[in-house]
Amino acid sequence: MSIRHIEDRSLFVLQAGASTYVLKISEHGVLLHLYWGSALGGPLDGVDHCRVLDRAFSPTLAGAPKGVSLDTLPQEYPTHGSSDFRQPALEVFQPTDGSRIVSLRYAGHRIEAGKPALDGLPSTHIESSDAADTLTITLEDKLIGLRVELLYTVFNDHPVITRSARIVNAGTAPLEIRRALSASVDFDTDVAGHEFIQLSGAWARERDAHFSKLRPGVQAVDSRRGTSSHQHSPFIALAERGADEEHGEVRAFNLVYSGNFLAQAELDQFACTRAQIGINPFDFAWRLAPGDAFQTPEAVLVYSADGLGGMSRALHRFYRRHLLPAAWRDRERPILVNNWEATYFNFDAAKLEAIATAGAELGVELFVLDDGWFGKRDNDHTSLGDWFVDRKKLPGGLTDLAERIKARGVEFGLWFEPEMISVESELHRAHPDWCIHVPGRPRTEGRQQLVLDFSRAEVREAIYESVSKILRETPITYVKWDMNRHLTEVGSAALPADRQQETAHRFVLGLYELMGRFTRDFPHILFEGCSGGGGRFDPGILAYFPQIWTSDDSDAIQRLRIQYGTSLAYPFSTMAAHVSAVPNHQVGRVTPLRTRGDVAFTGTFGYELDLGAMTDDEKAEVRRQTTFYKQVRGLLMSGDLYRLKSPYDSQETAWMIVSTDKAEALVTHVTVLAEPNAPCARLKLRGLDPSKTYRVRRGDTETCVAGDVLMHAGLPVPVALGDFHSVQWHLRAM
Ligand code: DGJ
Repeated sequence: MSIRHIEDRSLFVLQAGASTYVLKISEHGVLLHLYWGSALGGPLDGVDHCRVLDRAFSPTLAGAPKGVSLDTLPQEYPTHGSSDFRQPALEVFQPTDGSRIVSLRYAGHRIEAGKPALDGLPSTHIESSDAADTLTITLEDKLIGLRVELLYTVFNDHPVITRSARIVNAGTAPLEIRRALSASVDFDTDVAGHEFIQLSGAWARERDAHFSKLRPGVQAVDSRRGTSSHQHSPFIALAERGADEEHGEVRAFNLVYSGNFLAQAELDQFACTRAQIGINPFDFAWRLAPGDAFQTPEAVLVYSADGLGGMSRALHRFYRRHLLPAAWRDRERPILVNNWEATYFNFDAAKLEAIATAGAELGVELFVLDDGWFGKRDNDHTSLGDWFVDRKKLPGGLTDLAERIKARGVEFGLWFEPEMISVESELHRAHPDWCIHVPGRPRTEGRQQLVLDFSRAEVREAIYESVSKILRETPITYVKWDMNRHLTEVGSAALPADRQQETAHRFVLGLYELMGRFTRDFPHILFEGCSGGGGRFDPGILAYFPQIWTSDDSDAIQRLRIQYGTSLAYPFSTMAAHVSAVPNHQVGRVTPLRTRGDVAFTGTFGYELDLGAMTDDEKAEVRRQTTFYKQVRGLLMSGDLYRLKSPYDSQETAWMIVSTDKAEALVTHVTVLAEPNAPCARLKLRGLDPSKTYRVRRGDTETCVAGDVLMHAGLPVPVALGDFHSVQWHLRAM
């Protein structure tokens, strides 16, 4: 069992991989946080020493001796109103008397083998051969009949603990949750010098890693857009000062959720830090009638003593095993060609077939028909919701096109945007109130479209019917599920006035229900998530869809930053990356085709250009790329990532993927701007077996080099000839 209850000391000791997490029930019944760090194997003496100092302006907890104040105790699920002035994890409004005070005390616990699924929400999962145990601690506020069940699942083979909370109205009066975070951890240690790491950006430049020194007060990232968003990711990490890719302590928090979130750290007056993650309390409320329960999303907590690289590798291994849909997580993904940047809305069947035919000749395995095939969709003003083929563009229909493409040996995939409705559509004319809106208020449009109210079962049912009809009738093996605007005038025609603030969360629950239904009913289809590129790149989506279009920016140089930042939390196998045309459509940059290929060799590789319009030399390079990708994709799907040079630090970026048995590796190095008379650089590799000798192949040349030489002396990096130059080495142990 990875969970121990030491009854005489009121301790719970959670042993997750090489990490330990310790909780204590105080003598007044408060759930305290004592430790989260490197594994502790001994008798734990000293760990349960909890400071009690009589501090000015930190009031004494009612019924406790002077000096016992929630303002200074490190806690696990804090509330506001009785001596803790820091950010709470839970706020509950009591309509009967208007009070907002909640005081939680220990009421019991349960330890069981395995991991329960969460009601209505995606979560990490285990199989029978996996070792994981779950601790449920029940806290209650007897006065108002409120019960809080805190779930901790501890994984034997990973330094990971998942947390969530179930809030139950066990009383007789209605309650209203105004804030219910998934996890809160108080570090009663010196993390004051720590760095706060966040992944933030914008459309086409998602998930840049930002590092800032933790300062007194609250530092937060959040989304108020209805989706996890391009702007901030539901991920934060606290890294020991001086921590780098391989050294130093890092503690990270990631939320398995795709809607409004909050992730924050509060450094308090005594240099203690409270880190929290969960649904954003902004514009959120949830009515709990007597007997009702509310389940929060799951938070993933990971500890690394080996720097950011250790954190990422732990998360990647964990997500590959326990988050991605089991049927897809180890499956090699097809090389695809997508017609979006090749044609936009301007295509006919012959044009599509020509791209697919060129792809077939060059080793591509899947053709994806993107936006514009349905309704009267000649531009982005119309037809979302009308999921039937446009016979003007495709007179033979989808099945005919798909069959002809399949006859070339290439599979067929299709784009949908199921959550959206165009004002200019048959669906909107028939159901003008099916969108998210507030009656009487003008409806803000984004990309000329509105968002369907997925909190409503009849809306989800109609979309399921029209989309699934196509999936049943057409030989489709891949779907790109897009989402191209954020939520405004958030309200649902189906909810009463006092439940309107539930709309945003109910929308996400409805989305999950539909994603679950589609993926269950069409298990042969590979689903790829997308939201104007990487606007919804989060563990909630990855629980259903094993890969996500990482960004609408397909420029290889911008992608260095985007993929590097994304890799802090997510494995390469989840990041779709394509080679696109030059000048690049987003930034106008011209990069070599080789560099575009090398950068797109992450996990899920493809093309987004007119392959038929390429020169013979370019086609030869594409043929080389597809042949090579097929050799290494198993490695890219399952290997460990080592980031060697950061795009944020210099003109160079480098990363490598090493197979778990250390027998194979792929190293990528990109120089952004070439330097005249440049120094002779060496690249020190990591993660190899120092006692093995590797065949190191670059292009047509091969040398044999010892693992220790590669790691300690490094590989000589050829001087870049021209800007945006890349080098790739493929290593195999002899
Ligand atoms: C946004 C996506 O990110 C693009 O790849 C493309 O599918 C367009 N939408 C189509 O409208």
